[in-house]
Amino acid sequence: MRYQKDYQKISLAGLGTTQFWSSAPPEALSCVREALGSYGLTLIDTAEMYACGMCEKRLEKALRDIPRDSYYLLDKVHPESVMKHRLRKSVTDSLQRMRTDYFDLYLLHWREDVNLEEFVDEIEEIRREGLIREWGVSNFDIHDMKDLLAIPGGENCFCDQILYNLMTRGPEYDLLPFLREHGIMPMAYSSLGSAYRSDASVRKNPVIQKICEENGITRQALMLGFVTRFNDCPALFSTSSLSHLKTNLAFADFDIMPYMDAIDREFPPPSKAEPLDKI
Ligand SMILES: NC(=O)c1ccc[n+]([C@@H]2O[C@H](COP(=O)([O-])OP(=O)(O)OC[C@H]3O[C@@H](n4cnc5c(N)ncnc54)[C@H](OP(=O)(O)O)[C@@H]3O)[C@@H](O)[C@H]2O)c1
Repeated sequence: MRYQKDYQKISLAGLGTTQFWSSAPPEALSCVREALGSYGLTLIDTAEMYACGMCEKRLEKALRDIPRDSYYLLDKVHPESVMKHRLRKSVTDSLQRMRTDYFDLYLLHWREDVNLEEFVDEIEEIRREGLIREWGVSNFDIHDMKDLLAIPGGENCFCDQILYNLMTRGPEYDLLPFLREHGIMPMAYSSLGSAYRSDASVRKNPVIQKICEENGITRQALMLGFVTRFNDCPALFSTSSLSHLKTNLAFADFDIMPYMDAIDREFPPPSKAEPLDKI
């Protein structure tokens, strides 16, 4: 496994929890335990909105008996909870479902009409109380980040979790440089293109196929290698398959840098600003 260059307790691959949306298949539970126990993955992502808290409950089952300080747990609040002044309740309800005393990182899931001043004031207070270690945001584009950083305390934002993968390189134009300049950790979701989008352009691409063959890796491992290539942006993926888990995490031993010129020709970086994509 490789780890975030400034935060060694955060693995560069993170496991999401959409695989627990409708049930908790035994293999999906095993994936969480194997990822932590055998592959050195530490980052786990969930949210109060995923199956109305059921993903948290199913995840808790998988994490039971695993020492709390051996993984980095990230949860997210639905903007409506914040707008209805239920932020603290959301934190404590999620903590209760996860049977833990703290979250390592707690994000505003997306901006909607949240009053950012009020959010920052309250989340900072919750952080000072120790219920969360850090806070951040998700799906914030560059103009949202600028608004946030203009607020007192906004500079304490730790992370922006965004849709970013080989097929969706828009954030490279301005958002990723902005986050890096301000010391805010980027984190990618749907790093594999996700169930909502087809990855046919990657799957059918002969250059990608050749790189994968030469290195004995899958296109999913290559895609994780792409997102994490500067060792600063963890890549979230979800799986309920132990064999996918194993082949995906082979990304950690693959150096994509010698191939980036060829990859750029097939999947060019953005040449102008693009609005942040979301799912
Ligand atoms: N902040 C946000 O707004 C936001 C939005 C979306 C997601 N997220 C988080 O990001 C996590 C990951 O995103 P995601 O679940 O949308 O998408 P993803 O990881 O890009 O794609 C997941 C899909 O890929 C499949 N897959 C994984 N490895 C594979 C392999 N080696 N070969 C073939 N198929 C493979 C999985 O099926 P198998 O089970 O068969 O492997 C699953 O259907 C989520 O679980 C969630 O925690 C956050």
